[in-house]
Amino acid sequence: MSTTAKKFDESARGEFARFGTTRVHPGELLRHPVYTRFLHWSVAIFFILSLLSGFAIYSPWLFRWITPLFGGGPRTRALHPWFGLLFDVFFLFQFINWFAPMAWVESDRRWMKRMRQYVTNDVRREPEDVGFFNAGQKIYFWLILVSAILFLITGLLMWFDDVVGRWIVAVSYVIHDLAALLMLAGFIIHIYEGTAHQPGTFRSMMDGTVTERWALTHHPAWFRAVTGRDSREAYEREKRQEER
Ligand code: HEM
Repeated sequence: MSTTAKKFDESARGEFARFGTTRVHPGELLRHPVYTRFLHWSVAIFFILSLLSGFAIYSPWLFRWITPLFGGGPRTRALHPWFGLLFDVFFLFQFINWFAPMAWVESDRRWMKRMRQYVTNDVRREPEDVGFFNAGQKIYFWLILVSAILFLITGLLMWFDDVVGRWIVAVSYVIHDLAALLMLAGFIIHIYEGTAHQPGTFRSMMDGTVTERWALTHHPAWFRAVTGRDSREAYEREKRQEER
């Protein structure tokens, strides 16, 4: 990541911290500052608007209940590329914001080997080497980047379809729709992981904080890095307190 992008990200974090606050109570840790939350929800809003308007364009009959939300069929078609562009713009800032913690590291390869146990809830606590994001979260992030690039290229080709040949436009339709399906699958898994599968995660995107217990259960290496405490010891202590 270039130093200009890093500097921009740092100053944006500072500016946003002046407008919104994140209260961290005793026993809690700051997970996502105001700027990150603003970007995440902006990406989410424009993703959902793109998805809904895209469905209505894809199958006007099946999704005819959607078009009135956007003011009718022609307006839905006119708005969709703008929703998509705004999704891409916000994701670009999110990409800069999360580039560093999303870097693939050696421990992610080990996490991938244990993915089955993670999905089936066989482990009560993540291994010691899981940092700020786990490998599954990183894969989702990089998939969004690939899809965002594909949406942009194919979307522009379909938008300005008189500039290129018919077959290029036809291939763009297929790629655009496949990318949307991939994103839809990722989105469903993401909502499940961020809410029901990992209780205590959703609040990190609302008020910006998590409990220390959540951190040492799901991201022990991050817990160690921010508190300087041994996560295994802290977990055992929490367990003993709970049993009392
Ligand atoms: C609307 C429902 C959504 C909910 C409830 C939700 C919830 C969350 C939560 C709680 C986190 C923080 C996870 C953590 O700190 O470990 C998160 C992170 C993230 N969100 Fe969302 N989100 C939603 C929509 C979206 C959408 C539409 C996108 C992009 C298309 C998105 C992309 C991400 C990414 C890349 C991360 C970081 C990696 C990860 O945690 O998977 N989210 N989300």
